Amino acid sequence: MSTSPKRKNEEPASLADDVSKRARIDDNSDNDKAEEIPFLNPNAAPDSHIDHKAAIKYWSSTEATVSGVLGGYPQVSRIDLQGSSNFLAKLRRQSKHFPQGKKLQKAVDCGAGIGRITTGFLSKVAKQVDIVEPVKSFTDQVKDGENVGEIYNVGLEAWNPHNDGLGPYDLIWNQWCLSQLTDIQLVEYLQRLPPVLSEGGWIVVKENLSNHHLNVDVFDETDSSVTRTDKKFRQLFEDAGMRLVAMEVQRGMPQGLYAVRAYALQPKQVKGKK
Ligand SMILES: C[S@@+](CC[C@H](N)C(=O)[O-])C[C@H]1O[C@@H](n2cnc3c(N)ncnc32)[C@H](O)[C@@H]1O
Repeated sequence: MSTSPKRKNEEPASLADDVSKRARIDDNSDNDKAEEIPFLNPNAAPDSHIDHKAAIKYWSSTEATVSGVLGGYPQVSRIDLQGSSNFLAKLRRQSKHFPQGKKLQKAVDCGAGIGRITTGFLSKVAKQVDIVEPVKSFTDQVKDGENVGEIYNVGLEAWNPHNDGLGPYDLIWNQWCLSQLTDIQLVEYLQRLPPVLSEGGWIVVKENLSNHHLNVDVFDETDSSVTRTDKKFRQLFEDAGMRLVAMEVQRGMPQGLYAVRAYALQPKQVKGKK
């Protein structure tokens, strides 16, 4: 299973299994040809196993379809997009900067895959949607789409929108992709966003939540990602200097899949104010 919607009762291999997957050397074979399987230290933090190369290898070999980016659950897309649209509408009802009825100027779809969210939601609410996604064969599917602006084929850990002179964005949407970043990378990424966020704009994080019985994050070697607990997300948002302004559990997810939660964040420190 992968970053995308996934079954909670099909958790990745246990740590004991991970240990058994250490480098194997076949006594009867030439050592140079021995199969190298990485050793995963069971005591290490789950996010320390994240390997961006392995993740990109996985996603590059995944079919560029809704089913591909949603881990074989394309039926989830409709309810997800509807839930996202309702969530933004609620945010806008309470906003003096972006009341409903007018399109946002600019949004950005981060870890966008084939642009499922851009096509089905963001391009309907924003005049321009920029895209950040490391796999080019995915963004090739959306590059000619309505209201699609700049496309950056880079991982979020390396995306520095302020240095690139981007923004301001009224909405920065991150869905089913932040699990690809380590905890530190996620905090640093969030810390880079305030300079490119419009006043009153939102950073939305919509991700699976770990249901591990020990309330810990879970590493998934399929796509080299980590599924975090709600507690961990809140801690990382705090560490990044973000204020949680709204939160909603995605309703109507098929039974047996991880719960999905949307968080809306704003920087605690408002631009220009000390
Ligand atoms: C489960 S798909 C979700 C795509 C899209 N957000 C959606 O909901 O349809 C995960 C996406 O994260 C991308 N990804 C992988 N590593 C990433 C990274 N380091 N930074 C940003 N995105 C990454 C993958 O290429 C893939 O497109």
